[in-house]
Amino acid sequence: MHEEQFIDMDRRKDDLTSEQMLKVIFNYTAKIANERNLDRVLMHMADMGREMVVADRCTVWLLDQQKQELWTKVAHGVSELRIPIGAGLAGHAVAAGEPIFIDDAYSNEEHKEVLADGALKTDRQTGYRTKALMVIPFRNNDGDIMGCYQAVNKLTEEEVFSAKDMEYLALAASYSGKSLESAMLTNEIEATQKEIIFTMGEIGESRSKETGNHVKRVAEYSYLIALGLGISRDEADVLKMASPMHDIGKVAIPDTVLKKPGKLTDEEFKIMQSHTEIGYNLLKNSNRHILKAAAIVAHQHHEKWNGRGYPQGLVGEDIHIYGRITAIADVFDALGSDRVYKKAWELDRILNLFKEERGQHFDPQIVDVFMEQLPRLLEVRDQYSDAMLEEEDKSY
Ligand code: C2E
Ligand code: SIN
Ligand code: SIN
Ligand code: SIN
Ligand code: FE
Ligand code: FE
Repeated sequence: MHEEQFIDMDRRKDDLTSEQMLKVIFNYTAKIANERNLDRVLMHMADMGREMVVADRCTVWLLDQQKQELWTKVAHGVSELRIPIGAGLAGHAVAAGEPIFIDDAYSNEEHKEVLADGALKTDRQTGYRTKALMVIPFRNNDGDIMGCYQAVNKLTEEEVFSAKDMEYLALAASYSGKSLESAMLTNEIEATQKEIIFTMGEIGESRSKETGNHVKRVAEYSYLIALGLGISRDEADVLKMASPMHDIGKVAIPDTVLKKPGKLTDEEFKIMQSHTEIGYNLLKNSNRHILKAAAIVAHQHHEKWNGRGYPQGLVGEDIHIYGRITAIADVFDALGSDRVYKKAWELDRILNLFKEERGQHFDPQIVDVFMEQLPRLLEVRDQYSDAMLEEEDKSY
């Protein structure tokens, strides 16, 4: 006898009644239809599938034709998971265009090798016990395979997935198909925009010897602070994409000023300050939502809560919330990094400055959120450290 039981008795469930099934479908399709963010569509689809077939886990994999990979969003993780097509059960099902059913991963002969290299290996590392597996490829309206549903462990008494379950997942996929395709398109466009934005941002920064990771860190800090303030994820996403361009106006600042190793004269600092208006003028004529946000950020990231910032000397909430957030993100990063004109500061010294400038340079409420979010901000700082970037650069 096995010591650990695969499903303990009080966790066992029943298949859904048709009434419950309708409710699940109704709730999730409404959520999915309103969602344009691809990662969140995938998460909702996975949740819907898991509830419909009463599985312990469910993953939605999408096919990336270009890279010949399947990818998915890991629940609550920061990054996506990718596997080469042809690897794993999911890859096999997609490559063959056929569903795969496995009643017990430990006694299955047909997929023995894939399982040994996948689920069983993972089980050994995690202590999880995989038993039943089901992988169902799904297609778009043109009949092309878009990806697959993968469900693990059936939580009912039977412990195995049925043909009915397959139909339910196919149904879940077809209900989600349209939202999924439009979210993928949006994702594709936004990925392109993001690339352009980072490239533009890096042009501004690289001339001042600040690395490309500066703009990435500022983007992540701004995003986390925005969420901490209770701003919606959609709007936080916009800020995340816009904030890397805050210093784009530095492209027009002469090297003699930008790269001066020492302190700037008053006149040089005036020239330096013009990077806000230059950036604003570069971006303000676009009708694109993200570029409009970027124009605001470029213009206002050096404004101060007390009205002593530049270029307009705006006060308090007259400064756009995007400007107030990016101001903190930018200074946090600038102080923590070496610049041609200064060494990086210790964290304590940085935090003291934020305490002193709370209500002076910075919006007090945002400083409070900044302090709350600090552990996560420091994680980002580690993840996108400049040392890491140098490693990456070598590989080109
Ligand atoms: P940056 O290096 O990205 O710095 C952004 C902001 O971080 C600065 O805006 C300032 O608010 C804060 N910050 C950075 N370093 C320090 C510091 O050592 N002490 C304090 N208290 N705050 C700091 P700011 O001052 O408006 O400067 C805008 C940009 O002008 C800077 O961007 C940098 O490119 C340039 N800059 C400022 N001061 C100097 C300088 O003395 N020498 C040179 N070469 N450039 C400078
Ligand atoms: C796979 O083999 O595709 C992965 C199975 C799993 O770990 O759930
Ligand atoms: C991705 O590769 O992350 C996105 C693929 C797509 O949206 O088509
Ligand atoms: C700006 O002046 O920076 C943009 C105006 C705004 O939309 O806040
Ligand atoms: Fe700036
Ligand atoms: Fe900056």
